[in-house]
Amino acid sequence: MGRIRVLSDQVANQIAAGEVVDRPASVVKELLENALDAGASRIRVEVEAGGRKLIRIADDGHGMNRDDALLAFERHATSKLHTADELLSIATLGFRGEALPSIASVARVNLETSTSDDAVGTRIEIAGGKIHRVDDAALSRGTTIAVADLFFNTPARRKFLRAESTELSHVTALVTHYALAHPEKHFELLSASHTLISAPPVSRTAERVYQILGKDTLAQLLPVAAEAPLGHAGLPEPPPWKRDPDEQKRDPGALRLSGFYSKPELQKLNRNSIYIFVNKRLIRDRLLMHAISEAYRNIIPPTTSPVVLLFLEMPPEEVDVNVHPAKTEVRFRQQSVVHDFVRDSLRNALIQARPAAAFLKALDSSPAASPSIMPVSISALPKATENAPSESDHAISIPNDAEPFRLTPQVETPLPGKLPFGAPGSEQGWEQAAAALIGSVDLPGHDNCLATIDSPFSSAQSTANETARVEAEQAAANLNHLGSLKPLGQLRESFILATGEDGLWIIDQHVAHERVLFEKILRDRQVEHVQRQRLLMPLLVELKPWQIVVFAQIAEELERNGFEVEPFGPQTLAVKAAPVGLEGASLERMLLQVIEQSTDAPNELKQNEDLTSLRTRIAASIACHSAIKVNTPLDPVRMEWLLLELAKTEHPTSCPHGRPIALLYSWKDIQRAFHRI
Ligand SMILES: Nc1ncnc2c1ncn2[C@@H]1O[C@H](COP(=O)(O)OP(=O)(O)OP(=O)(O)O)[C@@H](O)[C@H]1O
Ligand SMILES: [Mg+2]
Repeated sequence: MGRIRVLSDQVANQIAAGEVVDRPASVVKELLENALDAGASRIRVEVEAGGRKLIRIADDGHGMNRDDALLAFERHATSKLHTADELLSIATLGFRGEALPSIASVARVNLETSTSDDAVGTRIEIAGGKIHRVDDAALSRGTTIAVADLFFNTPARRKFLRAESTELSHVTALVTHYALAHPEKHFELLSASHTLISAPPVSRTAERVYQILGKDTLAQLLPVAAEAPLGHAGLPEPPPWKRDPDEQKRDPGALRLSGFYSKPELQKLNRNSIYIFVNKRLIRDRLLMHAISEAYRNIIPPTTSPVVLLFLEMPPEEVDVNVHPAKTEVRFRQQSVVHDFVRDSLRNALIQARPAAAFLKALDSSPAASPSIMPVSISALPKATENAPSESDHAISIPNDAEPFRLTPQVETPLPGKLPFGAPGSEQGWEQAAAALIGSVDLPGHDNCLATIDSPFSSAQSTANETARVEAEQAAANLNHLGSLKPLGQLRESFILATGEDGLWIIDQHVAHERVLFEKILRDRQVEHVQRQRLLMPLLVELKPWQIVVFAQIAEELERNGFEVEPFGPQTLAVKAAPVGLEGASLERMLLQVIEQSTDAPNELKQNEDLTSLRTRIAASIACHSAIKVNTPLDPVRMEWLLLELAKTEHPTSCPHGRPIALLYSWKDIQRAFHRI
């Protein structure tokens, strides 16, 4: 008798569940995506015991009729995909027809659903994959799915679940992400009787960021938007019913990017605060992570990460979403186009915004103390710090912030009156209200509280005021006017003090000059026009045997940067010429530093891209060793020259190693400190 047997549906579903459902947050993800695919405008998520005991998601989407509701629990049953061709242009979040049967095979599920056409709705009870009851029920349009006792029949899997607080933090992170991607929808998350997220619809992502992540985080972020044509000749047109009607009005072949990125002064120790959405799907992608770190190269230290919320939109046929069972990874058809577009858009945005680092903020903006990308009100939770999620801990492959929650008391904000201008939430009304209120209204008690206001009216208004105020402050505080600052003098012959319209500036003379030189060296090197100077006496530098090997690898690039170096005995180099400004001990230190840094990355040197990083390393090192030092007196003319040169750089915000160059003690902060406002 043969050994091979076809698995029962029940076992097959449990195997599929292993890939799709590994913790409460992955159930929430699948159910949220179903609700969004059903066109819901209001989604309410309730969990008990971090979702281990109960997850209930209610939506006001199109619902299902009785037959569909029963079919939805069959494996590979889906309304979102009919033919293999359609796999090439998926415009929905789900398409595999696996989520509901998988979830139902490892939990007790209660489904209530009704369409607007049917007089009666349907209630289905199903546990461990077996249907127990099907009833008619009087229900309003939409779907509510309750998932109780996750993994009740698979104790081995249940053991993998973490503490309630950890599971809850994953659920919260997930709802946060989807709420950010859909500002026009109403999201709520409740745990036991606590409201963790309450986000009524708003018209702009900035307002949603404010609602969920709070004022502090929003103040550290800058908006970005870009668009590029994307040739996709030869691709089949997606079926018309797959297309969003608005989409058809736009250019079908465009790549669009929008979102927020952090000022260079905000640095995180890991990549957990980078959120990438492709066509509103939250994904993890190494390619785009790389593009983001490239954009911040030489602006923040290489060991740190920015905070980025990135929404990419492209025609569905440009991205293959069918590469991961949990649909958290994708493959781009034109990988390098997407990579370069993201890198260049962010980099350009950084160049243009030139955000100034605020003097007072800089004091507590160490990587560990910077604001977290978590809802501001994870209030009244049980101790959430133990087992806080870490990057490696992400079984559902969704990035999350590793920092512990801020346990702030949840403050109910009094409802302000009705919105004075225009329609609620409308762009025009919002702008008018904002314009009228900029600078004149500070919202009391709004600092640490979540906008737990039920009325979209009031929330839109308060958010508008605050966002407008933050935006106004941000707009003023950039480095565009560096060149017109008036230097007053030096502090300990190391920092230049200068005044301008914005307030009082403190500029680190060494790193300012370092940035000026760094960009100049890179430019000169690009056009092979490096200025070198001949040394009166060759400088002899002794190397260790392994350093000789590394030197040989980088010798050519050094030569193109203005060095003339010859062997002088087996372990000694004679430097005969060097870039202008480098001499003596600094020259020797610079050479040894570049060799040292290149030792750490010998394999990298072989790759093309690393020639760029070698070039950047050399330029940064030359700049660092030939820049004006601290404890150097500067006369007013030289200070003015330095500020002018700094103003001309692409990134006057930070030195090539990521340290801030100029801090602003804003006029507003000064007035506040003296209690004048
Ligand atoms: N909240 C909902 N509202 C309306 N219909 C729903 C809802 N949830 C599920 N459905 C219907 O049930 C079907 C099966 O859902 P399921 O999540 O199992 O598969 P899917 O969403 O099609 O694909 P995937 O497995 O990739 O999520 C869906 O195709 C959809 O038609
Ligand atoms: Mg689904």
